[in-house]
Amino acid sequence: ALEGRVERLLRRMTLEEKAGQLAQYSQGVPTGPGTGREGHEEMARAGAVGAFLNVVGARETNRLQRIAVEQSRLQIPLLFGFDVIHGHRTLFPVPLAMASSFNPALVEQAMRLAGAEAAADGVRWVFSPMVDIARDARWGRIVEGSGEDPYLGAALAQAYVRGYQGPSLAEPSAVAASVKHFAAYGAAEAGRDYHAVDLSDVSLRQVYLRPYQAAVEAGAATVMTSFNTLNGVPATANPYLLTDILRKEWGFHGFVVSDWNAIQELVNHGTALSGAAAARQALAAGVEMDMEAHLYGPELPALVRAGKLSEAQVDEAVRRVLRVKFALGLFEKPYADETAVPTEVTPEKRALARRVAEESIVLLKNEGPVLPLGAAVRKVALVGPLADSGVDMMGPWAGRGDAREHVTLRAALERRLKGGLVYAKGTDFLSRSTQGFEEAVRAAASADVVIAALGEEAWSMTGEAASRTSLGLPGNQEQLLAALAATGKPLVVVLFNGHPLTLQGVQARAQAIVEAWYPGIEAGNALANLLWGDVNFSARLPVSLPRSVGQVPLYYNALGTGRPAGAADLTRPPSGTADKYISRYIDEQNTPLYPFGYGLSYTTFGFSAPTLSAKGLKAREVSRQGLEALRVTAEVRNTGPVEGTVVAQLYVRVRGASLAQPVRQLAGFARVRLAPGEAREVVFPLGFHELSFLNSRSERGVEPGTHYDVWVGDSSEAKAHVEFMME
Ligand code: IFM
Repeated sequence: ALEGRVERLLRRMTLEEKAGQLAQYSQGVPTGPGTGREGHEEMARAGAVGAFLNVVGARETNRLQRIAVEQSRLQIPLLFGFDVIHGHRTLFPVPLAMASSFNPALVEQAMRLAGAEAAADGVRWVFSPMVDIARDARWGRIVEGSGEDPYLGAALAQAYVRGYQGPSLAEPSAVAASVKHFAAYGAAEAGRDYHAVDLSDVSLRQVYLRPYQAAVEAGAATVMTSFNTLNGVPATANPYLLTDILRKEWGFHGFVVSDWNAIQELVNHGTALSGAAAARQALAAGVEMDMEAHLYGPELPALVRAGKLSEAQVDEAVRRVLRVKFALGLFEKPYADETAVPTEVTPEKRALARRVAEESIVLLKNEGPVLPLGAAVRKVALVGPLADSGVDMMGPWAGRGDAREHVTLRAALERRLKGGLVYAKGTDFLSRSTQGFEEAVRAAASADVVIAALGEEAWSMTGEAASRTSLGLPGNQEQLLAALAATGKPLVVVLFNGHPLTLQGVQARAQAIVEAWYPGIEAGNALANLLWGDVNFSARLPVSLPRSVGQVPLYYNALGTGRPAGAADLTRPPSGTADKYISRYIDEQNTPLYPFGYGLSYTTFGFSAPTLSAKGLKAREVSRQGLEALRVTAEVRNTGPVEGTVVAQLYVRVRGASLAQPVRQLAGFARVRLAPGEAREVVFPLGFHELSFLNSRSERGVEPGTHYDVWVGDSSEAKAHVEFMME
């Protein structure tokens, strides 16, 4: 029925109206370069626009929608898209933080709420999830995704899509997802935003494409292209990505939108000599909608008339756009409800945001243990530029969040400690002045414990166009930390940041380190609950934290080397041939300061050696997708004093394959909650999905005669091990 409606409408459209459906314009606060364009009402009336972005609010979206639906010839509704990245009104932790929860079900629940809030605001299309694998901590946008691992990234990609789109797009509270940025945007050379990407097909498919594919399998309605070139071909005019892989291999039925002005940027890339040529290349490659390049609307009809594109190509693009509009029910219900109470952040929403934050904040160090803070702690000194900044708790892409509604650490601690809190900002992000140090040190000296809230300014130092060449604390925050440490008071550092930071200096000075990322609207309350132990830490790092920026890109699932460092002592420079001619640095260790999958709790956990449901496997039996071939079982026990949740993680390595494979790769994870002394079996099914890899012909499969190592534990350095052969 839907296809019939699409075809009937398509037959009635002029070439200009078709081109209009493929054009998207921004109105309101721009999210890219350029000044935008006037005359949007007139365009809507003429059927010269198919979608807007950055128009929000029931009243404003309805105003434009009314023009399109009541005054244009064919009455085709507009689609309104917006960057709902980690919440709309109710801001949840940033995506990198949510990935730290290793809890896709919870993320799905949160994103359902985000989608519903957006829909109530007239937005039925969100530019999320960002599923770009990021292995380079310098890249600012690492904060917008789920980190360095394709298995975790794929699980979360599906959670976002399911959350936004719900059981049916036609539900008025559902929104269409846009999986971005297709593809491999996270592999920008040198971590510099918008820079070129050069990747082997094996890396592309084995690592980078997996989360996008997972999102498409979960039914993502749209895909957004990326700004980068991939092996010389711009992603926004890349038939290999957009047609061969996305459509033909994965069977994608939705539509592809370019990123902001990315079609015009083909001229800068040097693959097109004019805007018209760029439009032709993009459409021919498989980009159905032009976001803000202002090219499809004016250029496509002329290109068709000149015989440079066929009308059938334009028709196919329009079909895909209309299909999504029909699926969203926009023809039946084009308007948002203006009479409804404006979206409020209710206590229930706050409770969910708080839970997500509590599960997203990672405890990196706890010497003493100085945490949890107990009743003996009467006076706390709270210091640092992030102690009382609501706007930073929102993180980058703050949607329709309101900084004033965000609970800062200062606000939460004032409530908890009554008169027992003394606050001093100490310094600012980029400050060189030490003027505030004296007050901060005085506060520290007068307190039982010092909490230093340090890190990066959210909007200017993290996210899009915010790549860095150094990964230390900006400004003189380390200096402030040294001054605080000199007081001899127990020092807890709470970090708010979007890049994985180099923390050697912090680690040397602080007794406890808490990686909070940007926790969202309930930031302070979630942190207070964790710091006082009302709630136990359970989050794990979705990225490796480097020791030094020179190690970057640093990720656990790397290929091995013919000259591994083995047991050599890398804390010292080489002293002879044995520790020289190995893969190492002369001035730094190879390992991260904190590895992927790592995080502490107020309790401890022990893992038994894993066991297998069979001694070996036959390659031809696992070659059928979806089949569970083997089960790995391990017992995990809470060996400490309090209840806690461990993220049990399964890693595999394949040896003897036709291509070298990573030293280990995540192939399963489960959150397990245990009372003190309690033990539970965790069972990981291994099937085609977990055991297969890319072979030398770029085909996914398993190979006979290969050896599998399997580890189960609570980080990527898990030790408990078992092995088997694939025959
Ligand atoms: O969705 C974003 C994208 O991630 C970066 N460029 C602008 C788009 C729309 O705001």
